[in-house]
Amino acid sequence: MSLSKSFLWGAATSAYQVEGGITNDFSDGGLDAGRACDHYNRFEKDFDLARSLDHNAYRFSIEWSRIEPEEGKFNQKEIDHYKKVIAALRERGLEPFVTLWHFTNPVWFARLGGWANKKAPDFFLRFAKKIVEELKDVKFWVTFNEPEIYANHAYFFGVWPPKKKNAPIARRVLRNFIKAHKLFYHWSKNTRQSIQIGWVTNLSGGPTRWFFNFPNHRSFAAVGSEIDFIGLNYYQRIRFFPGRNLPRSDMGWEIYPKGIYETINDLKKCNKPIYITENGIADASDKRRSDFIKDHIQWVEKAMEEGADVRGYFYWSLIDNFEWHHGFGPRFGLVEVDYKTLERKIRPSAQEYARIISHMVQ
Ligand code: FCB
Repeated sequence: MSLSKSFLWGAATSAYQVEGGITNDFSDGGLDAGRACDHYNRFEKDFDLARSLDHNAYRFSIEWSRIEPEEGKFNQKEIDHYKKVIAALRERGLEPFVTLWHFTNPVWFARLGGWANKKAPDFFLRFAKKIVEELKDVKFWVTFNEPEIYANHAYFFGVWPPKKKNAPIARRVLRNFIKAHKLFYHWSKNTRQSIQIGWVTNLSGGPTRWFFNFPNHRSFAAVGSEIDFIGLNYYQRIRFFPGRNLPRSDMGWEIYPKGIYETINDLKKCNKPIYITENGIADASDKRRSDFIKDHIQWVEKAMEEGADVRGYFYWSLIDNFEWHHGFGPRFGLVEVDYKTLERKIRPSAQEYARIISHMVQ
């Protein structure tokens, strides 16, 4: 299948996982990424790598704690930093695909109760409006990355700050994300009609997905038509009883390429364009990554041949990075990072992905 030139091909990152030098609720709460990959200072070189691998887009996030380190006070220097990031992407022919919120919060916001505070949607809206007004050149905006995963990890399993284990609060947090998304959507449709706004969800594959993906589909029902596209993060199949001898990643996640097809089809009912905003594997040996990418893209193609409106694919991740409470162990990158020297090394699977891209865009 040959795809149109406007299909987005690239890789994704998030600010806290790659940038380094960030103070937020995670660094404050015992999950300090330190200097991470120093992407904050090396973004141009990293974008050169993406360009050399034939990518035409890059998904990344804005770190709210940089933009608004104190309540209501914006840091122009940091806003200008992201302007430079976007200019550097454009210079290399990479379309910016920007996430406003990817799990992390400013310390002041967390101290006020974070996403459990009923004022959270208004706080978010103030930040979102400011950054969207400043970064005029961006077309694709994601409000929230995987709100369900965040609500679970931070408010139900208690492994991310604020480390609560309280189901009713987790539900309230999720409701606040939906409210914040809608506020932002309405504001932007009245003021910046040209931008496209999405919400990113993480769905699992296999027969158990009706159970595990239920809260995600419920969120989409609540968001309703107030969305321009859906972002799908797909990684694995989840079973009720862990099987033996199954193909797994270094994270122990079961490799199940058909699941990306199943989950795309489940989203067809929303009648919105779909971007695969994350799909990837932790594989330090790089032995399984090429097949992983190839197989998943084949299933995406099949879904498209059967009518799914998929418009982009972002591998997770461009470079190795800080995997939240798992630290720096898991290696998801197309590009390997040596955390001592911060040197980058392109993995063979990244070249394979580049070959797939050039084969598909003809
Ligand atoms: C997703 C997250 C992303 C990364 C991958 C492995 O759930 O959005 O930040 O951690 O998992």
